[in-house]
Amino acid sequence: MTARPRTALGLDALAWAYEPIAMRVCRAAAWRPAVVAAVDPRPGMRILDLGCGPGTLCRLLARACPEATVVGVEPDPVMLARARRAAADATGLCFVRADATALPATAPLDRVFDVGVSTLMFHHLAPDDKRAALGEAVRLLAPGGRLVVADWGPPATVAGHAAFAVTRLFDGRTVTRAHADGGFVAMLREAGVADLAERGRWPTAVGTLCLYTARKP
Ligand SMILES: C[S@@+](CC[C@H](N)C(=O)[O-])C[C@H]1O[C@@H](n2cnc3c(N)ncnc32)[C@H](O)[C@@H]1O
Repeated sequence: MTARPRTALGLDALAWAYEPIAMRVCRAAAWRPAVVAAVDPRPGMRILDLGCGPGTLCRLLARACPEATVVGVEPDPVMLARARRAAADATGLCFVRADATALPATAPLDRVFDVGVSTLMFHHLAPDDKRAALGEAVRLLAPGGRLVVADWGPPATVAGHAAFAVTRLFDGRTVTRAHADGGFVAMLREAGVADLAERGRWPTAVGTLCLYTARKP
């Protein structure tokens, strides 16, 4: 890992505020259950969460099926520490400090996964990094393995565009462009997956959250 990424809020001191903001501003409580349902954790399943932040989704997945293995990948040490602390009592859950654009071939990333999931990470990545992270996710999937991605998508209304302008101002226009104009969906398709589908849309105060699923052929 060459450079340390921004924390989810851009400032270590505000890391504690990430989850309350995700819940209130990004309506995470509305769409995370749909992400868990799309992952559909089952006993023995290996699930990879790229850019897991404080690990809330990882914990929900582990709670939904304690017999599954959930690996959260997060490059930011402050977020990673929060994820590890919050999951201290959970089973089947571990966290790795790594960059989703270049995953190490060391345990537990030295084996393939049944599902690769990622929520609200891709809009932080530059276009080439989005492609690299999608490539890594697909590389680590077993044949037939599933990809589940929830992130900002193209707004369908004027109000939706106005809402996403807030995120674009805060997170940067270059990294969010593909999410505004549909380019990210094209990148998903170009990652070599099959059965790409949009499974849901949730309008929020800061953009339209879209849930995509696909499968590695
Ligand atoms: C908005 S937070 C989302 C956290 C969590 N997935 C959620 O939905 O609550 C984005 C996370 O992506 C992480 N991130 C940024 N660049 C990354 C990269 N290159 N590889 C992996 N994670 C990255 C950030 O450190 C941050 O924790």
